[in-house]
Amino acid sequence: MLLRLHFTAKRGKFERQSAARQSKAGVINCDLGMSKPFDIGLDRLTGQTSYSEAFPIGAAGQRGTFFLETFGCQMNDHDSEKVAGLLLSRGYQQVETPEAASLILYNTCSIREKAAQKVFSRLGEYREKQSEGKVIGVLGCVAQQEGEDIFKRAPWVSLVCGSASYSKLPEMLARLEAGNQRVTGLDTDTDETFETPVTRRDNPWRAYLTIIEGCDKACSYCVVPFTRGPERSRASDSILKEVRQLAELGYSEVQLLGQTVNSYADPTARRMRFSELLLAVADVAGIRRVRFTTSHPSDFTPDIMEAIERQPRICDHVHLPVQSGSTRVLRAMQRTYSREEYLEKIAMIRGAKRPISITTDIIVGFPGETESEFEETLSLLDEVQYDSMFSFKYSPRPNTPSLSMSDSISEEEKSRRLAILQDRQREIQAANNVHFVGDKFEVLVSGKSRRENQWTGYTGSHRMINFASQERELLGTYVQVQVTGATPNGLVGEQVA
Ligand code: 5AD
Ligand code: SF4
Repeated sequence: MLLRLHFTAKRGKFERQSAARQSKAGVINCDLGMSKPFDIGLDRLTGQTSYSEAFPIGAAGQRGTFFLETFGCQMNDHDSEKVAGLLLSRGYQQVETPEAASLILYNTCSIREKAAQKVFSRLGEYREKQSEGKVIGVLGCVAQQEGEDIFKRAPWVSLVCGSASYSKLPEMLARLEAGNQRVTGLDTDTDETFETPVTRRDNPWRAYLTIIEGCDKACSYCVVPFTRGPERSRASDSILKEVRQLAELGYSEVQLLGQTVNSYADPTARRMRFSELLLAVADVAGIRRVRFTTSHPSDFTPDIMEAIERQPRICDHVHLPVQSGSTRVLRAMQRTYSREEYLEKIAMIRGAKRPISITTDIIVGFPGETESEFEETLSLLDEVQYDSMFSFKYSPRPNTPSLSMSDSISEEEKSRRLAILQDRQREIQAANNVHFVGDKFEVLVSGKSRRENQWTGYTGSHRMINFASQERELLGTYVQVQVTGATPNGLVGEQVA
């Protein structure tokens, strides 16, 4: 079985790579787009102690081949890792191109209109593939949102399955294998989470784990509560078992995932709080870094901060989306906190004994956002001094409460506000990153540059750092790096003892 992965620095993830980069059987070549490939034993990616244990000898490819393309967030990326694991364990073989596949799956995103449009244009490209006898399936948020309408818009599709129904995928695949032309999984009324015996992990050092699915918040602009269904937390013992397995496989960094990861509510009798789970994960032998994303400000309670303070293996980085700096807009967004309440959370984080990196998400041009309300968002950036920011133009989405509000801000004005916001944040990052020059960080090395002796990796605070080292092999190791220079988007340095 050959898997080809390629790390794309821009998207921060591994992607399947061209056949030309393929090396010997059973290993994976990964690079950073700019680097020489490196090899990782395949058995490390299966989420099982050994590859043969996961996939009985001879099973691979028995049922055909699949091509899986993913769009959207980290949750989607990780869902795809689990779906790929599920298919591999059922005897399918993963291939790199739709041409080579008998089953083409497309894991989709509908958070903004552009993302959803992209799905239909890509499905159009797949149209002729069905006539070649290939089965085409749509997974994820667009599948859930559009449902059976997808069959009308793209009659060449055979499978439509939202993320809340992934646990039914084996059954759905069986129906497809039995010759059914159209199968759907669109139920969101579930208390199940999606657990797989095998996960085909893309990143050889950082393992993702979903601990909570769906969302019970009701932000007025957001499709997620509709596309991913109600909040369901995974049992703490199952999470900890997986973390132990990952540590045995050599993963030292785990990232706990959820749309509102800190709203975690253990369904077992242990009733572990999110902060207790963080500490328990960090206590697993072999785990050196615990990350978590995304936190909702309203559920970011002092005990989470205490856990971070107490346990240095819990990373010094909190992603805390604010969305707007104006209390009036936050209320219209149904974000459940005011500017002042958000700033109290920031003060709590800033009060920690060790510095914590804070990043955020912002939407500009929400219906009715005035110039002065937009300026409140700019002043919030000045006040918080975020380490990094993701920013978006408001996009009206189906089923959401804000759809009924008039999308009053023109596209040009949204673009203008976005550009101003991004300029302001760039200035903040440029000014702040300079202060790191001379500091020393522990870095997990995740890439090797094509340039001689140049490497790349992440600090615990999730800052990317490019650095020089004379060592011959550093990938997957932790090294000490001294910062020698800074740009708005990252740091440069050199390895020190
Ligand atoms: N329009 C623009 N941005 C959105 N987001 C979510 N829904 C929308 C929308 N309708 C952004 C939020 C969220 C991030 C994942 O996407 O900032 O935190
Ligand atoms: Fe969407 Fe709000 Fe839930 Fe985040 S918390 S997924 S923005 S509804």
